[in-house]
Amino acid sequence: MERLGSKDEVRQAVGEARRESKRIALVPTMGALHDGHLSLVRAAHERADYVVVSVFVNPTQFAPGEDFAAYPRDLERDLDLLGAEGADLAFTPTSEAMYGGGADVTVDPGALGAVLEGATRPTHFGGVCTVVTKLLSVVGPDLAFFGEKDYQQLTVIRRMVRDLDLPVKVVGCPTVRECDGLAMSSRNAYLSRDEREAATVLYRALRSAETLALDGERDARVLEEAMCGAVEGESLAALDYVAVVDAATLAPLETLGSAPARALIAARVGSTRLIDNLALAVG
Ligand code: PAJ
Repeated sequence: MERLGSKDEVRQAVGEARRESKRIALVPTMGALHDGHLSLVRAAHERADYVVVSVFVNPTQFAPGEDFAAYPRDLERDLDLLGAEGADLAFTPTSEAMYGGGADVTVDPGALGAVLEGATRPTHFGGVCTVVTKLLSVVGPDLAFFGEKDYQQLTVIRRMVRDLDLPVKVVGCPTVRECDGLAMSSRNAYLSRDEREAATVLYRALRSAETLALDGERDARVLEEAMCGAVEGESLAALDYVAVVDAATLAPLETLGSAPARALIAARVGSTRLIDNLALAVG
């Protein structure tokens, strides 16, 4: 696996792959890689001939006071994992390499970026959209892979690619979970042993909504109340939000109908903020 830190070098390496008629995939990450990230690399391998993985803890998607400085970083381990997974190129820019040319013009994520996560983290999706646009521009992939774990991020990026006519196909990949249901996340490393146990409450809450829906409950408020109740029963967890939304538009639903629906949850476990989501099927 090749490792490059400059945008020009990456453009050149990808250009060579393209001249060999290879299909190019991009998997953007912030590192501290786990099986969730690696599942995206595997999915990329199935659909492309040349897989680029970016590892960059993007400062512009963290607000002051958030965990940018503390965010887990272990680049050597990440590179070993990516090499073992058969990635072709790791793009590992510094902040200077990424933003040194200036960062005054940014991408506005629109209304989808202002709700749910955006209500708590108003500058977050602007940072995500801007860095993803830059990565797409540098790499120029045919396909870009994102996890459903960050469902709103996936939805915002799909919308950005559509509205800005970006020439890439966005591929969403299922959430990879620990045995007890906790969604894998780099931030799980912050949890103490007790908090790690309590953190399963997010998945338990989502499953309670899923079960109600499968049993025929269509009232979104009833599903949301069940999720709230699950979190209230966990003393180490504090709820940020639960929502039952249209899976394509993230618009709040009153009633589950024929259109795909999604349950979303965000909660603090100790001082760690975690998010998760699940598709809802009506029984
Ligand atoms: P990061 O949190 O490192 O996640 C990188 C990609 O891995 C995202 O598409 C995310 O949804 C996916 N992912 C994380 N945990 C997963 C899991 N348990 N199962 C499946 N996929 C999972 O998301 C970001 O970085 C950044 O915002 C980024 C898009 C790289 C822009 O900076």
